[in-house]
Amino acid sequence: MRFNQRLLAMVLSISLLILFYLTVHPEKINAIGVVNISTQQNFTSSSLKPHMPVSFEDLRKIIPQDVAYWNRLFYSIVTNTEKNDNPSRREYPWSACREENHEVLRINVHDFDSYPPLFQTYVKGMNCRSPPILINQLKKCNNHTFLLFAIKSSPANFERRQAVRETWGRDGVYLNGRRVRTVFFLGNYQPDDPNLGALLSFEAKHFGDILQWDFHDSLLNLTLKMDMFLQWTVKYCPLVSFVFSGDDDVFVNTDGLIQYLESLDSSQGSHLYVGQVLGLASPIRDPRSKYYIPPTFYSGSYPEYTGGGGFVISGELMQSLSFVSKLFPLFPIDDVYMGLCMKALGITPKKHDGFQTFDVKKQDRGNVCVHKQHLLIHQRSPRETEVMWKNIHNPLVTC
Ligand SMILES: *[C@@H]1O[C@H](CO)[C@@H](O)[C@H](O)[C@H]1NC(C)=O
Ligand SMILES: *[C@@H]1O[C@H](CO)[C@@H](O)[C@H](O)[C@H]1NC(C)=O
Repeated sequence: MRFNQRLLAMVLSISLLILFYLTVHPEKINAIGVVNISTQQNFTSSSLKPHMPVSFEDLRKIIPQDVAYWNRLFYSIVTNTEKNDNPSRREYPWSACREENHEVLRINVHDFDSYPPLFQTYVKGMNCRSPPILINQLKKCNNHTFLLFAIKSSPANFERRQAVRETWGRDGVYLNGRRVRTVFFLGNYQPDDPNLGALLSFEAKHFGDILQWDFHDSLLNLTLKMDMFLQWTVKYCPLVSFVFSGDDDVFVNTDGLIQYLESLDSSQGSHLYVGQVLGLASPIRDPRSKYYIPPTFYSGSYPEYTGGGGFVISGELMQSLSFVSKLFPLFPIDDVYMGLCMKALGITPKKHDGFQTFDVKKQDRGNVCVHKQHLLIHQRSPRETEVMWKNIHNPLVTC
């Protein structure tokens, strides 16, 4: 009994010592093997060089160098990058990455056990970045694509996808011969969900616009989906001019959007990151919020970013973004993550009042002219989308 107590005391003091050591030397995390970030060069041949210089200076200003878990991961990348010309994060095979050891995380994050269960799952799986692709579309961008709609969807959202296909996301050639293509990014359903596999493969064959990866389609896996979006686009749609990333329950004024994109001069058009800009926000610390971020996970504010309901980026940025994304630890909120990656490329989001990710005024929600004046409105049901689409194309409507 007394021996057990002594042993416990010893284990406790060793843990405390390690914790203290890590607090004082966050850059040493690798050495102890607690956080798996490689310090050697191990660039894989598939990693393309970024077109643009990557700099952490602006991020350093908003991300304090303290003990919060993500902050420490970030600073070990900064250190790693300063030491190496070819920095990279170690790639974990999908089958072997799960899960970061619970005890190790408890040593790293003293209140890890008080994180909401889903958030714990998220942190444990942060190294899992290469889910196998189940359904691909190899030829989506065969012909030059002006605008790619890259829509985040979920296996069960068939009705929303169908509304998008029939309205603003219809594949085709629009104004001035501009080609528009749409793809939907899906994760997988859960073992406890009804099996939608047969229906999805039919949908994929019939419409040729479904992309699916084998990971649990959930809120906290949206950043993984964003990562897949960056990598897929670089690989299968490398010459696209503009990419729209957004939700499957938005309304888009496709003609208006094309006109806006065409109006940009080439320097604006090649470095575009446009949408509804959310200014230097702080993480939400209320555990009941779906965007809750524990203080010991991330401290500091967010960079400016565009609301994830829908924003547009230049195709030219995709390769550099995908490079940065491969380097960075995943952040649980996908649009904040995009803002972080953009900041490392020195790009600030451009504000455009046509993007209304928090909807327009209540009295304007059925107003055709208001919809014609905007580029994106979140959120609309499939039926509302169909009705509004017909209305804004009605030749009798003059606004
Ligand atoms: C698009 O590309 C395919 C094959 O790559 C070709 O057969 C087709 O004619 C092209 N369509 C247009 C409109 O250029
Ligand atoms: C993300 O997907 C992986 C793979 O399916 C799953 O193990 C994990 O629990 C998911 N994470 C969250 C937070 O849902």
